Amino acid sequence: MFRLAHISDVHLGPLPPVKFHQLASKRITGYLNWKLNRKGALASNYLKDIISDIQSKPIDHIAVTGDLMNLSLPDEYVMVDSLLKQLGNPEYVTANCGNHDAYVPGALQRSIDNWAPYLSGDDKIISSAQDYPILRKRGNIAIIACNSAEATLPFFATGYFRRAQAKRLEAILEQTKDMYRIIMIHHPPFANATPWYKRLIGQSRFREVILKHGADLILHGHTHLDTKTSIVGPKGNVPVICVPAAGNAPSGHKPAGRYNLFSIEMNKNGWSTKLEEFGFSKHADGVNLLGSHEL
Ligand SMILES: [Fe+2]
Ligand SMILES: [Fe+2]
Repeated sequence: MFRLAHISDVHLGPLPPVKFHQLASKRITGYLNWKLNRKGALASNYLKDIISDIQSKPIDHIAVTGDLMNLSLPDEYVMVDSLLKQLGNPEYVTANCGNHDAYVPGALQRSIDNWAPYLSGDDKIISSAQDYPILRKRGNIAIIACNSAEATLPFFATGYFRRAQAKRLEAILEQTKDMYRIIMIHHPPFANATPWYKRLIGQSRFREVILKHGADLILHGHTHLDTKTSIVGPKGNVPVICVPAAGNAPSGHKPAGRYNLFSIEMNKNGWSTKLEEFGFSKHADGVNLLGSHEL
């Protein structure tokens, strides 16, 4: 059995001191959003409890689907680097970037440079977004991380899945067709998942790739919701699962901090996947099992 924990949208705080010149960009809108909304909602003690609960369980791998930081400030790269190290060895943790890790032009490349061991595939250290998707093989499990993060204009949080990445994803899915294939992408790849200014541009291209080549499980973040849906593959529906923001405080308008635990095994009927949701209920009474589903 392979046990995979999924966390997302850490938005690691507190926000380091911001210099005036650093706000003279798209960061000003994110800074105000942090001050007005996120500062209270994303509290580090909830994140700490989520991480220690993950670490108390026998888990084979952790997937982190982006939005690790907030404004792509220089000090935030260092904070996220320590968080990733706290989660575990890069062999054991696969992360990708979200729109907040590509907040301003040049930020995505800095994220890649800073966190490369956690972002890379098995075959080589990642050097730019052109290297996506990356592939890691763990036994007969293939972990494939796509990149949807690009710097956008102020007030936009769109993601992109462009033709060149789609071609490379097709090749990887073909190469791993006999394995259990998990795809990580920050933005949700299904229709109407978000308001239009936060959507994944190229989502129909992504769905076409899945329709043709299939996959077994798709993990995303970005919406901070606990949605469980599916998109169509060649042999039936492929589950598409989002996990709420890992450090979200209870009693906000989005679900409280959570992680998803997937137990994947091959039995006589083929692959089976069990999803268990662990996190805080509305009353902040510690990390508990909130739901269990066979996918
Ligand atoms: Fe987010
Ligand atoms: Fe996001």
